[in-house]
Amino acid sequence: MSIAVSRENEVFLLSTKSTSYAFGIDDQGLVRHLYWGRRLERPEELEMPVLTEVSTNDPVLEITPEEFPVYGGLRYKEHCLKATFADGTREVVYRYCGYELAQHETVQELVLHLKDAHYDFLLDLHYKVYPDYDLMERSVVVQNQSAQPITIQQLHSGQFHIPYEGLNFSNVHGHWGAEQQRFVQKVGYGAIVIENRRGISTHNHNPYFILDRDATETSGEVYFGALRMSGNFSGVVRQTQYGETLAQLGLNPHDFALELQPGQSFEAPAILYGYSHRGFEAMTHNLHRFARQRVMRPGLRPVLYNSWEATEFAVNCAEQIKLAHKAKELGAELFVLDDGWFGQRHGIDNGLGDWYVNQDKFPHGLEELIDAVKGLDMKFGLWVEPEMVNPKAQLYQDHPDWIYHFDTRTSDTSRGQYVLNLAKEEVQRFVYETMDGLLTRYDIDYIKWDANRPISQTCLRQDIWVTHIRAVYDIVTRLKQKHPHVLFEACASGGGRIDYGILGIFDDFWTSDNTDACDRLSIQDAYSYLYPIKAMRAWVTDCPNFLSQRVIPLSFRYHSAMMGSLGIGCNILKFTPQDVALSRQMIAQYKEIRPIVQEGDFYRLDNPSPNRYFLYEYLKGEQGLLFAFLPQSRVGHRGTTVRLRGLEEDARYTVHTPQGDVTKSGRCLMQCGLPLHLHGDYASALIPFTKEGSSETPFDTQSGGSTT
Ligand code: DGJ
Repeated sequence: MSIAVSRENEVFLLSTKSTSYAFGIDDQGLVRHLYWGRRLERPEELEMPVLTEVSTNDPVLEITPEEFPVYGGLRYKEHCLKATFADGTREVVYRYCGYELAQHETVQELVLHLKDAHYDFLLDLHYKVYPDYDLMERSVVVQNQSAQPITIQQLHSGQFHIPYEGLNFSNVHGHWGAEQQRFVQKVGYGAIVIENRRGISTHNHNPYFILDRDATETSGEVYFGALRMSGNFSGVVRQTQYGETLAQLGLNPHDFALELQPGQSFEAPAILYGYSHRGFEAMTHNLHRFARQRVMRPGLRPVLYNSWEATEFAVNCAEQIKLAHKAKELGAELFVLDDGWFGQRHGIDNGLGDWYVNQDKFPHGLEELIDAVKGLDMKFGLWVEPEMVNPKAQLYQDHPDWIYHFDTRTSDTSRGQYVLNLAKEEVQRFVYETMDGLLTRYDIDYIKWDANRPISQTCLRQDIWVTHIRAVYDIVTRLKQKHPHVLFEACASGGGRIDYGILGIFDDFWTSDNTDACDRLSIQDAYSYLYPIKAMRAWVTDCPNFLSQRVIPLSFRYHSAMMGSLGIGCNILKFTPQDVALSRQMIAQYKEIRPIVQEGDFYRLDNPSPNRYFLYEYLKGEQGLLFAFLPQSRVGHRGTTVRLRGLEEDARYTVHTPQGDVTKSGRCLMQCGLPLHLHGDYASALIPFTKEGSSETPFDTQSGGSTT
């Protein structure tokens, strides 16, 4: 059993394979946090400390570690919930009323029932345990059983307590074209707040916290939580005055209010959380495996060609067909027609909302291109941006009231477009029916769903910061039920929509519009801490790169993109015969190694050299890969040593280096390592290795597996 209850003192001990998390009910009916760390066995051994105030200015509620602190009473710390009742009372006083346990296949769930002492306002704290992944999940459901509305002004999904000061906090920062810039900072006094206020996810921070005690990849304690939501989130980390650190994740209180009508309930987004005493690598492996096996749609992702960077809005059928032929020649499996195929879409200022095929660009309809693509035995994908409308589009002329706006204000455009008000049922119906119509009429296998501006002027409702994204989740879920073979890619001006909420709804994720192969290395490195490699779409594009202006050899560009789900975004009609030959070879190799890349365990390897090598390992069963990059070589540099990880110590592995095969024990490859010396700037290598006596065919093209 992964949830043990000691009835004597009402302590709940939640355990995975190697971790435990515990809380209990005290004599006041408060849900008190007791423990988070390595696995314990007996809930009865956990004690409920008797708390006394430090002083009248440091009251008991302030120092009590609560699982779900509410706003009310002598509490001045971060609270998870603030509610206002119809009579104006603005505090919640909860009491514990019992619990329930449920088993869903291998997953056990605990629900704690709490109720306000005066109002018919219920709070259910939900906890799920995933023993094999060393992960747990928690959320809260608030329910109004009174006869009056209740306004929720703040709803974080839970509080975590770590009984230490001086932790390191890590997350990402960035902006369009520079998403996923990892940072680490010491938690001092005061709070660290990461948030999104834009509605359409964000390129800035990501909804998670990682707190560590001077951990490395393979050692040290790491506490982490990831919010399963793509809208406005906030995360707060605060070192208190009492020797501990608190962390919360949930809906952003910024401009937020949720009216809970009598009889209504609302489920806050869940937080996936865990603990590792073996550094960041164990966190990454557990999250990646969980995401691959329980969250994401199974199957390998296809090698795609996307025509955006080749043609931008100047799309025409004949040229797209030529691109499709070339893409097939290179080895692409999916051809994606990006922006510009519909309505009067010749630039950013028109077309969005008018989802019919542009006759001038496709005089014989989209079928002509689709038939050509299918005739080449490739899958066909289409770009859409269904949450948006341009002011010039017919849709806006017909329904000016369908956008987020204030009647007395000029509506904001950004990228020349408005955002559709998805809180309205008729707008949801329009988006669903339009997409369903496209998927029914055309033989489409893949949808790239873009969203290129943040939300503003949100009408009178203050809950759209969550209802908007939930409407998107709902529409996509229903479309996938009706069209189960279609893969959906989430994109929001590049990498603006990746989190553990959208990960289960969409199937493919655009990592960044920055396709510079060198910049991508650090973007991909940061991305890999939480998100699985299968969810990291990476394209090879032309040089000089449109953003960085760098000129990087094609082989380095391929190697960088082969670290994720490979895509090609070049103007391949301009490829030289050498480019074609190299592309064919690289794409064929990617298909061989794809199961290892997309479904193996991923390792961020140490680089002991003062030269900035980027070293990564993928391991699946008896086969592995080493990716090595040296963007810039310093005069006199002597190479590096690669110490592999995750191998069996006593087994022998053959490493297929460019200089020839080397066979050594796992112990030697992990402890002593392999010397590696790349030469010149933008040097890269992809080095496979295989366990001796492996029954798996080493890097057979046929083992590329089938794609979804
Ligand atoms: C932004 C995306 O990130 C690009 O890949 C491309 O699809 C454009 N939108 C099209 O407008």
